Amino acid sequence: MSATVDLLITDADLVTATDRMRTDIAVRDGRVVALGEGLDRNAARTIPAGGRLVTPGGVDAHCHIEQRASTGVMTADDFLSGTISAAHGGTTTVLPFAAQHRGQSLREVVRAYHAVAEPKAVIDYGFHLIVSDPTETVLGQELPALIEDGYTSFKVYMTYDALRLNDRQMLDVFATARREGALVMVHAENHDMIGWLADRLLTQGHRAPKFHTVAHSRLAEGEATRRAIDLARLADASVFIVHVSEPGAMAAIRQAQTDGANVFAETCPQYLFLTAEDTDKPGMDGAMWCCSPPPRDEAAQEAMWQGLANGTFAVFSSDHAPYTLDAEGKLAKGPDVAFKHMVNGVPGLEVRMPLLLSEGVGGGRIDLNRFVAVTATEPAKVYGLFPRKGTVAVGSDADLVIWDREREVTLRWEDLHDRVGYTPYEGRRIRGWPDLVISRGRVVIENGTLNADPGTGRFLPRVRPDSARPGGRPAAGLSPSEAFGADLF
Ligand code: URP
Ligand code: ZN
Ligand code: ZN
Repeated sequence: MSATVDLLITDADLVTATDRMRTDIAVRDGRVVALGEGLDRNAARTIPAGGRLVTPGGVDAHCHIEQRASTGVMTADDFLSGTISAAHGGTTTVLPFAAQHRGQSLREVVRAYHAVAEPKAVIDYGFHLIVSDPTETVLGQELPALIEDGYTSFKVYMTYDALRLNDRQMLDVFATARREGALVMVHAENHDMIGWLADRLLTQGHRAPKFHTVAHSRLAEGEATRRAIDLARLADASVFIVHVSEPGAMAAIRQAQTDGANVFAETCPQYLFLTAEDTDKPGMDGAMWCCSPPPRDEAAQEAMWQGLANGTFAVFSSDHAPYTLDAEGKLAKGPDVAFKHMVNGVPGLEVRMPLLLSEGVGGGRIDLNRFVAVTATEPAKVYGLFPRKGTVAVGSDADLVIWDREREVTLRWEDLHDRVGYTPYEGRRIRGWPDLVISRGRVVIENGTLNADPGTGRFLPRVRPDSARPGGRPAAGLSPSEAFGADLF
């Protein structure tokens, strides 16, 4: 009598970050229980893959869902629409943020995000924290307890009035992360460089969305990235630079990695597929393409592709920051608000994987293994979810995507499932889209139809990731501990 399983996928062209094999995949109780050709199993359901590409479900490690900005503006997507949209595009795990505003208890913030996510999410989720108020209580008590409970990464900002930390606060945060085994994610842009440029532009009457891309200069991103890396190295801590858009920042990351420092980074679809020129539209329409950092130029796009291919970027995230183009979203401060006071961010949860598969793999820039690595395996590893998430192996969660690689798709917002009201990729033609998306053995998307109830996604507490191990190889002559002759921290 052959063993009974819940689901059997036959004849899959399975690609992981390292391998490619023709195989069947057997799933029981939400996990992969067997891989191999011609598996003899009684299955409650059999899905013939017929040689189609099968990959691990995507892990989108940077997205903003049901998050209230410090300005009070709410993202258009809640945990229902956000996770449905993600699932349609092949993502089965999201890591959004539980965002602290100044004066708030981190623990209370986390409770509030759980309360809204739990009844709605259709795929699995964890939370990064956003730390905007690193008081003694937060660093000494709340963060260590939350890290222990599975919130093992947190983001800090070097810009935005209501969020930014100064260098000394950054050092305190890095030291805490090093001690507690957590990973610090940094939004690296120089606040004063941006503010100085923005004020000059506004004084000269330049208010349109396109000037956002001038104010958020490449130099501001490069400077802050170098500083964030140096601050992390001074504290002998690891660091993850989020949403990298420009070659100078990328070069600094690459150099630090070459030196042996524990520096990780991501880039996002907007830096591969959009440019600053997209923001040059009549009226306020350019706001639909405005995010921070902004898209740059074609040379920068080329550099980001290189960084994705050569390993400088371990992770490819959407930075889905869904704001409508109206008074509820980007234009909360008025219908013709100056760029400096606009809410920023672009959507991308649903299109992240299809765009990269089509233009990255289809375009010959990366191979399929690298596609899987940056969209699933590496984000799972960097953030303490591997091997439960991010791969297809015996024992891992059965999070799978069966792709139709031949399907031609013209991206139109009306066909997507977020609530943003537009996509910056409107009209772009791509090839390849998920046929089936499977989350813990449940077929959640089948031929474009959702088959999952709100609240069936599960919270994922995360382990302390290897990426957060202290500082990597200390650079000769740079380590304060080395100069001191003992561990300073
Ligand atoms: O413009 C962006 N990226 N908005 C979202 C917030 C952030 O900084 O990630
Ligand atoms: Zn950011
Ligand atoms: Zn973000």
